[in-house]
Amino acid sequence: MERLQKFIAEAGYCSRRKAEELIKQGKVIVNGKVINELGVKVTGKEKIIINGILLKKETKEYYLLNKPRGIITSVSDDKNRKTVVELINTNKRIYPIGRLDYDTTGVILLTNDGEFANILMHPNNNIDKVYLAKLDGVITGKEINQLKNGVVIDGVKCEKCRVKLRKKDTKNNTCMVEIVIHEGRNHQVKRMFQAVGLNVLKLKRERVGIFTLDGLKSGEYRKLTPKEVAVIYSLR
Ligand code: URA
Repeated sequence: MERLQKFIAEAGYCSRRKAEELIKQGKVIVNGKVINELGVKVTGKEKIIINGILLKKETKEYYLLNKPRGIITSVSDDKNRKTVVELINTNKRIYPIGRLDYDTTGVILLTNDGEFANILMHPNNNIDKVYLAKLDGVITGKEINQLKNGVVIDGVKCEKCRVKLRKKDTKNNTCMVEIVIHEGRNHQVKRMFQAVGLNVLKLKRERVGIFTLDGLKSGEYRKLTPKEVAVIYSLR
């Protein structure tokens, strides 16, 4: 059972807030009965009519985008910056799963399937998020161990994670470090490195679970295959 406004939004008709308005305005009919109060739940088998039109479930779409720098990971932006959704050619109401900063590049998934998004984001599923960071400084073995054991950001300890020095450039005092995390706190990777005194100059997400950037140049995207979608659903 699902709340009517959530069901309408997930069918792709409109946002959840708009669905609430339509319900309050008495524009939604469920099995012949006008519903004008919030709180009604549906199974999905009901005949739902909105503004005189039968509600049909939108087909689900799944995309993998290689996000370029200077694009916002959001559906819309009040500062009129370009969003990841604008890079995808679709008329479906898709949204990004999770967030990458404006200046972070790499793997971002987009969909209109709320359940798929929940599975990917759920902490119990321990999905790898692999980042490559260029750091302002050369990381030491001690700092790597601190990160591996979980540094504290905003008073909360991060989970243990995998950290690997991939390349160091002592001449320019920079290095490239791979870090694999399962959490998704705000600016997590940048703040983890800051916690050991290092600034991130560049950040790229190379992989999320089974999804890599293989074959995708910056700004390019592809649809997920049914098999890839099934792999994520199998984690439920
Ligand atoms: N961690 C960050 O700090 N930034 C990102 O964009 C993603 C993870």
